[in-house]
This record gives sequence, structure tokens and C-alpha cells, in this order.
Amino acid sequence: MNRRRFLVTGGATLAVASTWGCTIRPGPYPDLHPGAVVSLSAVRRLIVERSEALSGRCRYVADLGGRQVARPLLVARRGERFDAIIENRLPQPTTVHFHGLALAEAQDGAGFDAIAPGASKALRFDVKNRAGLYWFHPHPHGFTAEQVHAGLAGLLVVTDAEDEALDAALGLVTGNRLALAVADARVASGSLRPYTPSDEDCLHGWFGNRALANGALDARYPVSIGWVRLQLLNASNARGLLLGFKGNGRDGAGVPFHLLGTDGGLLAAPIPLEEVFLYSGERVDIAIDVSVRREIAAVSLAFDPRHQARGGRLAHRHPARGHFPPLSAETVCAPGAARNAADFLPDGGELALFKLNVSGAGKPAPALPARLSSLPEAAEPAGATPRRMRLDFDERLGFLIDQTPYRLDEIAFSVGRGAREVWEIRNSPISMPHPMHLHGFSFRVLRRQATFGPARRLAIHGSGRLPTDLGVKDTVVLWPNETLWLAVDFALPEEAAFSGRQRYMFHCHNLEHEDGMMMRNLAVL
Ligand code: C2O
Ligand code: CU
Ligand code: CU
Repeated sequence: MNRRRFLVTGGATLAVASTWGCTIRPGPYPDLHPGAVVSLSAVRRLIVERSEALSGRCRYVADLGGRQVARPLLVARRGERFDAIIENRLPQPTTVHFHGLALAEAQDGAGFDAIAPGASKALRFDVKNRAGLYWFHPHPHGFTAEQVHAGLAGLLVVTDAEDEALDAALGLVTGNRLALAVADARVASGSLRPYTPSDEDCLHGWFGNRALANGALDARYPVSIGWVRLQLLNASNARGLLLGFKGNGRDGAGVPFHLLGTDGGLLAAPIPLEEVFLYSGERVDIAIDVSVRREIAAVSLAFDPRHQARGGRLAHRHPARGHFPPLSAETVCAPGAARNAADFLPDGGELALFKLNVSGAGKPAPALPARLSSLPEAAEPAGATPRRMRLDFDERLGFLIDQTPYRLDEIAFSVGRGAREVWEIRNSPISMPHPMHLHGFSFRVLRRQATFGPARRLAIHGSGRLPTDLGVKDTVVLWPNETLWLAVDFALPEEAAFSGRQRYMFHCHNLEHEDGMMMRNLAVL
């Protein structure tokens, strides 16, 4: 019982029971060490603010009706309700987008109606998704990259019966389940550099030289012998991670792990791995047996990121950018603003992420369960004509979907409510990896074709799929030259609540590309 209570670093138990809404039964929730764990339904106001305490960086503050928790880690049982006021205290417009959740347009926070500086908005929805790691972040077009990088990336852990059964089967002890957002930042002389992308950064993405885990540099987490369950989000603006673990042996040999789940929850069965790609917006759920080591370092291993597009002079062109001050700098995408070699590590460079310090306590890891969930194998809808999309590069405009720069008021295409479609998405050979994300709906990867580079050797199926392709996805990376086929199910979880036309976005989750127009709207009718 105790290990499933809410814990914060330092061991204080949060007294949240009295703040529960009347409809939702409290817990049990996993012990997600560390962080200020707050149940989704306990939030009355979600404040978006700059903080002088964080030297001008931004944060979410959850107001629980009397008590405030900065940078909350939200937890919800499937079915739980969020009913709160979003308060924008930034000098720019913002939204709160719950990435991965199945929500109506009005709740999606996609940026169709951003909250003005100083304004508030009521937001109410029920969580329909499978258990898994979801997250929330700003989505006001033209300001997304800057705001996320300023610290606005919060985690939402959704649990259900399968999720609980897994914790029990793993015999997890207190502290051995973590939910972490990993992001890179530019750090020089111990301080974070503000977000000042050059035109080249806007083309390839903003890459830093150090990793933050839940906002902390050099993060270390004490864990006990046995299984550790990690739910990880890549919250970087642009950096792809090739996640691996190193032991503290003489050679720092790789530590194997098991992939348990992806963006939209648990796989049918665990997959043993030594490395896995995790691009911006993607999540993995993994189990790692820490029994025979004192210290384990999570790293992004070196890889060739295949940035093949060169040239191009880009600027964030969203007109609203001129009307609001930057959060922390004067210039954004300024021509010629040079990168500083001291705080820049190219995409694909080896990067230390965080460490696990293993104490002697705990007990040996039991056998992993052979089945994790009832997730069926991905199925191709019969007779569907694929909807084709192309990711391309334009020297003047940068990366685009179907040669078309994003427009807030345009609908690229409409789909019928409940339709089951196949999307055939092709990345051009002169390109770079693009993590493509769909709002509101999850999808399954059917196959990959013409994969080259480091992803190719990780393909585990005749279909060319990567290990993470076997789960439920809302964000998937396309390597240069690849074609992907996705099965997208437009069934809405609760028809009545979503009646009428609903608009959603499909975009690259490299946030410089997203702000840089690599995005389209679609409508569900
Ligand atoms: Cu994580 Cu459209 O966003
Ligand atoms: Cu999203
Ligand atoms: Cu992209």
C-alpha cells in the first residue's frame, strides 16, 4: 500500500486525499519517484508563468485549491477528469496541449484559439486513453519552440489495471518507478543559455550541449536492486536520442533493457534491447534490471543523424511574433547569429542524460511477464486507398508537408468520423529525420521501406519496423528517404462529446520545424 502512495523527494507524503473531486476514486497510483506528484482531478488552476526563481525560465504551477505545486508531475487513472482554469501569466499567447490524449478540438489546445497574455480559459475533459506516459506543453503557433524550451513541458502518467498488474509482476519497490522528461539545453559556465536560434538552428533544430532530466542537470536517482521501470519522454526541441545504458564496469559496457511500451501504452509483450531511438515527442516505457551494478548511466549513444539538407535561410515568419516580446532574448532566427561551439553538441553526438545510483536494498528481479497487455497486432484496414503525404525540403521555406507552408485557417483534408485510413508518408532523400505527430488520434505502424542509416540495423521485422513501431504511437520518426505506412483509426472515444467538425494538427515535432511551418490541419467530419 505504502509504495503506491504519493511521494516527493525527501519522503514527504502529499496529503492529496481531501482535494479529490467527487467523481473519481482515489488511487492506487504508482510511486513515481521523484517529483511533486499531483492527481489530475485535484488541479483547480493550472498557472503558466515565468519565474524569477528559475532565472526567467517558465513553469507550470498546479493550484489544488489552497495549495500550489510548482512543476507538478500529473497522474490520472484512465477515466479521470481534468476540470481546471488555465491561467496565462506569460507575456506571449499560450495554450496547454495534452500531447497524445484523445480530445475534442476545444480541449486539444492546438493553438486555434490561444490564450492571450493575462487571460484565462476553462478546460475540462476526461482521460480516455490507455495507461501510458503523456505530456502537456504550449502550442501557440510561432511560439511553441521558445516556450517549450523555456521549461514548459509537463508529464501526465495515466494508469489502469494492466499498468498496476505490471508493477506488481515486476515487484517494484519504492523509488524504482520514474517518469522523466529528457531535453537538451545550452549550458555554459553553469548557466542555461536563452533561446536564440540562428537561421541555421531554425533549419536543423535547436541543439544544446547538456541534458536536463525533469529540468535538472546531472540528475541522479537512487534506486534499489531489482527492476527499475522508466517512462521517458524526449522533450528536446529537436535532438534525437539513441537511448542506451552503461554500467560502471571497467569498460562501461552496455546494460540491456526491455521495451515495455511506447507513446500510447504497453506493448503486447516485452522486447529485449540494447538501444532504442527516441525522437522529440516520443515516449518509451522500459524495464531495466539494476541488480548487478552500483551505478548505471543513461546516455544518448553516438549515431549518424543523417541531416542531409543544406543551405536554406529560415526565419520564423508567424506575424504574431512581432507583437509579443521574446521570453528571454531579443532575437529569434536572426540571420548570422552564430552558434557557440562551447555550448553546442551536434545532433547524434554522445550525450550523458542521467544516472541511477543502485543501493544494496531491494530484492532480485523476478522474471518479466510474457504478456504485458491485450494490444492486438497492427492490422491494415481492408480496401483502404492510402492517403499519400510527402515531407520535402525547400531552400527558401525549409521543411514542409506537401510543399505547403502551414496556415492556421487552412484544412489540408477531411476524414470521416470513424474512418480507418492508411497513411503513406514519404520523406525525401535530401532531408533529415522528422518525428511526425498527429493530434487527437493514435496510430499503428504497418511497415517501413527504404530505411538507410542507423535505424536500418535496428529493424526487427520483415516489415522493416523498429521495436517502437510495434506499440501504439502518436509520434513517429521518418528517416530521410523512408516511406512509412500507418494505420490511423479515426474512431472517437465518445461520439456525442465530439459532435460537429473537429480540427486537428499533423506536424513535425522538431519544434523549430513546427514553428517553421511543417504542419497541416485536418478536419474530422
Ligand atoms: Cu506535442 Cu502538436 O504537439
Ligand atoms: Cu500533440
Ligand atoms: Cu522536421
